[in-house]
Amino acid sequence: MRKVLVTGGAGFIGSHTVVALAQAGYEAVLVDNYSNSSPKVIERLEAITGKKLAVYAVNCVDRRAMNDVFLREKPFHGAIHFAAFKAVGDSVTHPLKYYHNNIESLVVLLELMHQYKVPDFVFSSSCTVYGQPDLLPVTEETPWKPAESPYGYTKQICERIILDDAATAPGMHTTMLRYFNPIGAHPSGLIGELPLGRPENLIPYVTQAAAGLRDNLTVFGNDYDTPDGTCLRDYIHVVDLAEAHVKALDWLQEARPANPEMFNLGTGRAHSVKEVIDTFTEATGVPVPHTYGTRRTGDVEQIWADVTKAADVLGWRTTRTLHDCLIDAWRWQQNLLKEIKP
Ligand code: UFG
Repeated sequence: MRKVLVTGGAGFIGSHTVVALAQAGYEAVLVDNYSNSSPKVIERLEAITGKKLAVYAVNCVDRRAMNDVFLREKPFHGAIHFAAFKAVGDSVTHPLKYYHNNIESLVVLLELMHQYKVPDFVFSSSCTVYGQPDLLPVTEETPWKPAESPYGYTKQICERIILDDAATAPGMHTTMLRYFNPIGAHPSGLIGELPLGRPENLIPYVTQAAAGLRDNLTVFGNDYDTPDGTCLRDYIHVVDLAEAHVKALDWLQEARPANPEMFNLGTGRAHSVKEVIDTFTEATGVPVPHTYGTRRTGDVEQIWADVTKAADVLGWRTTRTLHDCLIDAWRWQQNLLKEIKP
């Protein structure tokens, strides 16, 4: 069984990927300091997969603690690096927190991967690296614009670090996966996004407003140059995204690429904020109280993916619709409510 280190394994995308890895016969070893997740996720993952998981409550910037994980669990065939801070607005307020955590954790991980000769590496990148592109949809070749936030810069810098490092590390095979907007939840309703406090992202806000936990969703701007005036994004179901990580690991094993390869992971379709709200209500029958407000600083107007490369090279494409995403996100929200009010 191929053993894979998963940093941020209790997080939103990490946890769904742990399930996909288990289903594909990989053995995942999780590292998470629960800074944006919960140990409860581990019990849920064990319930879904029916397996006891190896889990380390470790901060990835802690080199000594990470070294202990490698010593104890070696040999690893690969690593997937999810652990990072990811809130765009928070990164504007606390830039050093983002530069320290996101960059240092990558450097520590790469050094240990070299030391322990771990060949395969999958890095969680983001479409945020493109900034607001001139041409849509974006391909992997689309030139980067300035990032819109310190968070976005950390992803640009991390990609650069990986490219520079790979040039000196011929034994390593790397992919960088550029996620568009991951949403939804596992269909079991056992795992999903766990925003701490007031959600920054659209879908947790939609589900909390629909559940009555928030009075009102503010739509950030309806005066954009888009068909209905609200921003366009490429929303991808987190389970589709998780499956792409398995495809990426399989592909690294077969293709042994000499240089890092980047892949856009999205659906190739754009939806407006207004469409998301309308689809949510169609799918669940529950209204979302909302009003239109001013634009949010740092938002790009529109972005969606050209996903040809991931389809052609990895043999991966999404199978779940926006409707599926919202049904699953709503199921997850309802389960969270039951936990709060048993
Ligand atoms: N939005 C609202 N109201 C809200 C929250 C969001 O109208 O309360 C709108 C935003 O303005 C945007 C859309 O919903 O138009 C999506 O916003 P999200 O915050 O859900 O997602 P972003 O596109 O800003 O950011 C996401 C991830 C980042 C990632 C980025 C790449 O959160 O980690 O996509 O574009 F880097």
